[in-house]
Amino acid sequence: MHTIVMTGATRGIGRVAVDRIISDDPEAHLVLLAREPGGSTLARRLASTGRQVTAINTDLLSMRSVRNATARLLEQFASGRLPPLRTLVGNAGLQFTNNTTATSDGLEATFAINVLANHVLIRNLESAFRTPARIVITVSDTHFGDFSHNLGMVPAPRWQDPGTIARIGAFPHPDTVAAGRAAYSTSKLAAIYSIHEFARRLPEDITITGFNPGFVPGTDLARDAGRMANFAMRRVLPLVAFTPLATSKSVAGQYLAQAALGDTPATTGAYINRGRAERSSDESYEPVRERQLWDTLEQLAHQHAR
Ligand SMILES: NC(=O)c1ccc[n+]([C@@H]2O[C@H](COP(=O)([O-])OP(=O)(O)OC[C@H]3O[C@@H](n4cnc5c(N)ncnc54)[C@H](OP(=O)(O)O)[C@@H]3O)[C@@H](O)[C@H]2O)c1
Repeated sequence: MHTIVMTGATRGIGRVAVDRIISDDPEAHLVLLAREPGGSTLARRLASTGRQVTAINTDLLSMRSVRNATARLLEQFASGRLPPLRTLVGNAGLQFTNNTTATSDGLEATFAINVLANHVLIRNLESAFRTPARIVITVSDTHFGDFSHNLGMVPAPRWQDPGTIARIGAFPHPDTVAAGRAAYSTSKLAAIYSIHEFARRLPEDITITGFNPGFVPGTDLARDAGRMANFAMRRVLPLVAFTPLATSKSVAGQYLAQAALGDTPATTGAYINRGRAERSSDESYEPVRERQLWDTLEQLAHQHAR
């Protein structure tokens, strides 16, 4: 037996992936790090099929909550209540309609969940991995910043000092949707930088990859975007999934499960575009930025999550 820890399993792409993971990996004890009541409800439903699934109440927007969740996990690994940790899937993510949403730690919310939470999860759980082990983080092709990847819906990333991106008001006209979406594409670029830096620092037998599902209409990612945009994301844009421009939720979930189960060939640091390792944007290979971001994340983690 081994443990798979997963975030973002309660809805959207992750909800599809979780079914495939438990059906294809009968040796897995799945731990869902999720908000309540969604996490426990899903864990109970999956466990009723005879599988080992538990939930730990975790709000990834709160570094205290992330720290408490990893402390509970470490305790359960140490006492043998959980089998050894082999896989971490960091799939949870959010997109906001502004760049002014602050967490209880005073951090910008997009950055806090899409970048810092994964950093803290990996750093706090690093010692618990039983190798060979695998980490998969969901990123996004919006980090490319061009029309063929963002369909004109999400502005290109605007890289700045990571300490600035971590705070509200880093993007022009911060109370606009454009600023919220620029924060999103920038956070996903940051997530790729973070993956590259981890790939250099983690032991060789812990691989880390980024997973891009493509544009997946029909999930709840735009739930903060108001009734019209939400209606479009849930009801109209799913039709786009029948074109090559987008991925359906069920296909995206299968791809995420494949990456999590190690069925997609990829070396550490790779960018998995749907079902294949490919090159991410030219801008996403910047060792100086990667190092600066690492330093900022370490500082924030010490301040808020250790
Ligand atoms: N949809 C797309 O077009 C697209 C494209 C590229 C990348 N992505 C990425 O794919 C991933 C999954 O997104 P999705 O489209 O499937 O969106 P979704 O339907 O909104 O699912 C998001 C997941 O993240 C969890 N989550 C959100 N905030 C959380 C918090 N504070 N604490 C704990 N868990 C939290 C949600 O849990 P709750 O049930 O508690 O809300 C849910 O399980 C994200 O990283 C997203 O950025 C999506």
